[in-house]
Amino acid sequence: MFEPNSVMVTGGAGFIGSNFVRWLVDNTDVRIVVLDKLTYAGNRGNLTGVPESRVKLVVGDICDDALLDELVPCVDAIVHFAAETHNDNSIADPAPFVSSNIEGTYHLLEACRKYGTRFHHISTDEVYGDLDLDDTTRFTEATPYCPSSPYSSTKAASDLLVRAWHRTYGVATTISNCSNNYGPRQHVEKFIPRQITNVLCGARPKLYGDGSNVRDWIHVDDHSSAVWDVLTKGRLGDTYLIGADGEQRNLDVLRTILTLMGKDSDDFDWVRDRPGHDRRYAIDASKIRTELGWRPRHVDFEEGLAGVIDWYRENESWWMPLKESVEATYSMRGQ
Ligand code: NAD
Ligand code: TYD
Repeated sequence: MFEPNSVMVTGGAGFIGSNFVRWLVDNTDVRIVVLDKLTYAGNRGNLTGVPESRVKLVVGDICDDALLDELVPCVDAIVHFAAETHNDNSIADPAPFVSSNIEGTYHLLEACRKYGTRFHHISTDEVYGDLDLDDTTRFTEATPYCPSSPYSSTKAASDLLVRAWHRTYGVATTISNCSNNYGPRQHVEKFIPRQITNVLCGARPKLYGDGSNVRDWIHVDDHSSAVWDVLTKGRLGDTYLIGADGEQRNLDVLRTILTLMGKDSDDFDWVRDRPGHDRRYAIDASKIRTELGWRPRHVDFEEGLAGVIDWYRENESWWMPLKESVEATYSMRGQ
């Protein structure tokens, strides 16, 4: 069992990273250094209310070696969330994805090699490509990599760097590949928050293509507990898939949101599909369940979604400043 006293959380001012920081504050005694560049997706406000005695935010880039030389020797482990994360943006402009996702991971791995620091890499199931809609198989740790988009290909590249730094240099690494997260503080560019905030603004939700694409949803707090289990109990050099058996068609997710918000379930627009749109993701999480004993707690998706809707309803000041420019960008793309 690895028992860190201090952890650096890269990307800790983003959606999943900030929820992970909050989870650490509530469930552990570790001291936390957040390293985040505060891109358009990062938000200082995501850390409001966390105790300053436990959590320090450093605004900076994971590609900055001098900064890493200052920070990395002071922590026992790095949990690496920082990345460019939106598929649609990666199609429009892949450059920052190559820089932050591939080069950024390289700089962190080199720092871990130099200072002997434990490294946990957060990745996605999208590195495996997609499954057919009528297929019953799911991704496992043995599924070959086959990424479709610039986003998922840069995440795949970063995973391969992590594997090589473990095998070649003996860096103490683990990787987790998780399915689609939902929860509070997710940027309004993403599917679920976009639709909820459209309804709250009096606009119509937008569904890509024919809505038959399937995503495997997990509540962000279940992702956090799984990451902690892998960091503290995972086998070095190994990969763990994280998922909560939450497969849903986009059309069904949207209809559930509309119904929960008191709208007609047909009250949305069909819009232009995403180029190269992955059809289905599905995770077989047997390994983390059997080897580490991890279990998700938020197993009722509709209940989880209702909680997220309440959060966006109660936190308009968090998302409203982001909404106009996100919708202007989508509108230019016909989406
Ligand atoms: P996000 O876009 O909400 O947040 C990313 C954070 O990283 C932001 O705070 C941003 O400022 C920061 N960042 C980006 N580039 C940086 C750089 N060069 N230096 C320092 N900070 C930088 O992303 P998210 O949805 O919270 O995803 C976090 C991680 O989880 C990513 O690695 C993503 O690939 C992975 N992941 C996400 C999902 C999902 O459903 N969102 C699922 C599986 C895995
Ligand atoms: P997204 O949240 O971008 O996550 P990912 O691309 O990583 O799966 O999208 C989730 C699904 O929702 C994906 O199949 C694309 C679809 N989608 C829509 O139908 N409408 C939208 O407005 C958005 C943003 C996504």
